[in-house]
Amino acid sequence: MYNNIDFNNKTILITGGAGFIGSNLAFYFQETFPESKIIIFDCFRNEEVFSNGNLKSFGHYKNLIDFKGEVICGDINVQNDLKLLNSYKFDYIFHQAAISDTRVYDQKIIMKTNVNSFYDLLEIAKKDESVMVYASSAATYGNLPSPQTVGQENPENPYGYSKYIMDQIAIRYSIENPDMTIVGLRFFNVYGPREYYKGNTSSMVIQLGHQILDGKAPRLFTNSNQIFRDFIYIYDVVQANIKACAPKQNGTYNVGTGIPRNFQEIADILQNELDTDIGTEYFPNPYDGYQMNTKADISSTRENLGFKPKFSLEKGIKAYIPEILRLHGTDTS
Ligand SMILES: NC(=O)c1ccc[n+]([C@@H]2O[C@H](COP(=O)([O-])OP(=O)(O)OC[C@H]3O[C@@H](n4cnc5c(N)ncnc54)[C@H](O)[C@@H]3O)[C@@H](O)[C@H]2O)c1
Repeated sequence: MYNNIDFNNKTILITGGAGFIGSNLAFYFQETFPESKIIIFDCFRNEEVFSNGNLKSFGHYKNLIDFKGEVICGDINVQNDLKLLNSYKFDYIFHQAAISDTRVYDQKIIMKTNVNSFYDLLEIAKKDESVMVYASSAATYGNLPSPQTVGQENPENPYGYSKYIMDQIAIRYSIENPDMTIVGLRFFNVYGPREYYKGNTSSMVIQLGHQILDGKAPRLFTNSNQIFRDFIYIYDVVQANIKACAPKQNGTYNVGTGIPRNFQEIADILQNELDTDIGTEYFPNPYDGYQMNTKADISSTRENLGFKPKFSLEKGIKAYIPEILRLHGTDTS
C-alpha cells in the first residue's frame, strides 16, 4: 500500500485498462483491495493500422487474463459508448486511454482521441464527484534541455501537443471546480510487464531483451552511451497514480526517477542479467533533432504527492527478467 486510502468498496474506472499502464493499475487494485469494484473501459485492438504501420490501439485481452472486474469494450470518441458508463458512480477515474504512439502524425485523430474525450471524462468526474487522475506525458517537453520541469513545455509532435492541451484543460477545470481533485501525471519512459502488446512502441528494455535472447547482439544507435532517458519501472508509475489520489494540490506532475540512464546501460544490464556477452551492434540514428537527454524534475511530485521512486534501472530490469523470458518467442498479435 502506498498511502492510507482504502480503495475497498470504491468504484474505480480505468480507461485504457487493456493497455500497459491501465492493466497494471487494474491488477494492483484487484490484488491490494479485493473489495474494490474495478471497471475497465477500452476499445481493444482491431486490425486497423496508422500510416506508420502500427496498430491504431494496443489494448489486448492477454493483459487482462485473471482480471475479475468488469470489462467494457468502448471507444472514448463515441458518445453512445460513453453512455455505458452512466449506470455507475465512480469514486476514482484513472484516465489512461489514448493514442499512445508518439510517431502518429494524423493530428485530427490524435486531438480527437486524446483531447475531446478528456472533456467528456471530466464531466463524468464532476457529475460523480470522482477523483480524476489522468495520463499526461514527458512528450509535452519536446527537445527542451533537461531537467524537464513543469511550466516549461515545448511539444514537438501531435501526441505531445495533445497531452499539453489536456494539461491546460485540467488546470482550467480545477480553477472552475475548486472542489475537484484533478491530477495529471507526465510519465517519462515507462517499462515493465504488460507492455509487450505495444509491439515496436514498447520499451527498449523488452525489445533489446528479446534481441539478446534471439542470440543477436542488441542493436543500438551509434553513441548510445550518450543518449540518456529517465526510465521508470511500472510499479513506480502505479505508486504515482495511487499517491495522485491524495495530492497536496491539484496540478501536473512529472513521473520519472530523476536519474537519467543511457541506452547502452540497458543493453549491458540485460546482458548481465541474462548471462550473455555478445557485444552491441551500432547503426546511425536516422532521426533529426533527437532528444539526447531527459531527466524528470520530480521535486514537486515528491513534495505534493509524496512520490518516491523505488526502482533503479538495475532493480527494475531484474524484476522484469522473468516476464521478458516468458514472452520471448511468443507473438504480439
Ligand atoms: N508507456 C509510456 O512510456 C508512457 C509515457 C508517457 C505517457 N503515457 C501515457 O499513459 C497512458 C497509458 O499508456 P500505455 O503505455 O499504457 O499505452 P497503451 O497504448 O498500452 O494503452 C492505451 C490504451 O488505450 C486504449 N485506447 C486507445 N484509443 C482508445 C479509444 N478511442 N477508446 C478507448 N480506448 C482506447 C488502447 O486500446 C490501449 O489499451 C496513455 O495515455 C499514454 O499516452 C505512457
